[in-house]
Amino acid sequence: MDRLQGKIILISGGARGQGAAEARACIAEGARVVIGDVLDDQGQALARQLGNGAVYVHHDVTKEADWDAAVKAAEAMGGLHGLVNNAGIYRPARLMETDAALFEAHMRVNQLGPFLGMKAVVPLMEKSGGGSIANISSTAGLRGSPGAMAYSATKWALRGMTKAAAVDLAPRKIRVNSIHPGPIDTEMLSVRTPEQNAARLQLVPMKRMGTAEEIANLVVYLLSDESGYVTGAEVAIDGGGDAVAGRAHGAGDGRSPVERRTGRDKAVARASRRRL
Ligand SMILES: NC(=O)c1ccc[n+]([C@@H]2O[C@H](COP(=O)([O-])OP(=O)(O)OC[C@H]3O[C@@H](n4cnc5c(N)ncnc54)[C@H](O)[C@@H]3O)[C@@H](O)[C@H]2O)c1
Repeated sequence: MDRLQGKIILISGGARGQGAAEARACIAEGARVVIGDVLDDQGQALARQLGNGAVYVHHDVTKEADWDAAVKAAEAMGGLHGLVNNAGIYRPARLMETDAALFEAHMRVNQLGPFLGMKAVVPLMEKSGGGSIANISSTAGLRGSPGAMAYSATKWALRGMTKAAAVDLAPRKIRVNSIHPGPIDTEMLSVRTPEQNAARLQLVPMKRMGTAEEIANLVVYLLSDESGYVTGAEVAIDGGGDAVAGRAHGAGDGRSPVERRTGRDKAVARASRRRL
């Protein structure tokens, strides 16, 4: 219960869903948290529930001034040791149905937001002796996600930004890692119909959604000193979905790499094995 003892953590988009679970888990492990969001009523209610160790700030991640205010709130608590770039939007649309405004909206929240965030926290984190940044990407940042052009673009970008920042910030004792959740049971998925969500689960070996608490457990590990040598890593937390994703793309179709390269199909390969 003290894996984050003495640490101060800033969580963007922390009013509900995974961010709220992360705030609860951080407090349970001895941290104090600054919760930022644009959902002020929910954010304030959560901070009240969590007690003295939590404060809520109105924090739109697309605004540099809001990042400065959030960092100041952490400074007032005594420093900053962790950032969870958790805020995100998901408005799925295929390429041909995505206009520039939808694309830009995703870029602003899911990509510009974490960029501004990483920049904003560095001076105080460095002053606080170093820290850890967890960027919440998605399995949509590991492969093509059906019908989610703009979302995929930004989640891939966040994965790349994580690695670039990990290299840049290592000398400052700041670690940066990306987390890639599969379908997680939060309000974000209410944009899909229950049928669409059920169909999505067919692609998950564990045949269930993940919970916000399961993501929060991984966040606690990455923010804690237990992960002291982990930086620039990407962690899928998706019930095995990414492990089988290759099958859909032909990488796991039962043929050997040589058979795949030479274009021989399974039946021919089997027949030729029988002849030997
Ligand atoms: N739920 C899933 O299946 C799933 C899967 C993979 C990745 N993710 C990612 O996990 C993160 C958390 O999502 P969630 O599942 O808790 O969904 P959610 O919709 O419940 O939470 C997202 C939070 O971000 C906040 N937010 C949106 N725009 C913001 C802005 N401009 N500034 C500040 N806050 C803003 C929202 O108000 C909300 O509180 C997101 O980055 C999301 O893309 C979710």
